[in-house]
Amino acid sequence: MSQQTLILLKPDAVQRRLVGELLTRFERKGLRLAGLKLVQAPRELAEKHYAVHKGKPFYESLLSFLTSGPTVAMVLEGREAVAVCRNLMGLTDGAKSIPGTIRGDYAISVQNNLVHGSDSPENATTEIGLWFTPAELVKFDIVDAKWVG
Ligand code: PPS
Repeated sequence: MSQQTLILLKPDAVQRRLVGELLTRFERKGLRLAGLKLVQAPRELAEKHYAVHKGKPFYESLLSFLTSGPTVAMVLEGREAVAVCRNLMGLTDGAKSIPGTIRGDYAISVQNNLVHGSDSPENATTEIGLWFTPAELVKFDIVDAKWVG
């Protein structure tokens, strides 16, 4: 079933000029863009985005990281998009993530791990609502849909 998920290319991805390369990985898999923008996240947005981690030892550091520079926010759509993206991303800890995944190929840190992806369809809906207005999401026909599903 087609799903939407929120993907963030976090400030380290922008600073390291990996945006094009990482976006290519998601597109090449067959996911399609439904929304895309560059955002300097205010603290309030970061707090909402990481609300579930409030109270954890790394919470403040995580907020500082997400607000430290621009983030590329996108909504990707496709069959099983949430799980497909999580698999492409690899494990949270870049050092433990296997080669072939985004973090396995480009990250060695736990915090500075380049990408965020929603971990369930329910959280995807919530997170998309935090980062995008309905008007910023675009519906369009994909002409080669029969090849990628
Ligand atoms: S947890 O603790 O199991 O909920 O962690 P996890 O779901 O794997 O990670 C949630 C996000 O928190 C970040 N994280 C950390 N940042 C800094 N230091 C430490 N120790 C740490 N552990 C987890 C991690 O990068 C995740 O960010 P997102 O953007 O959600 O991928």
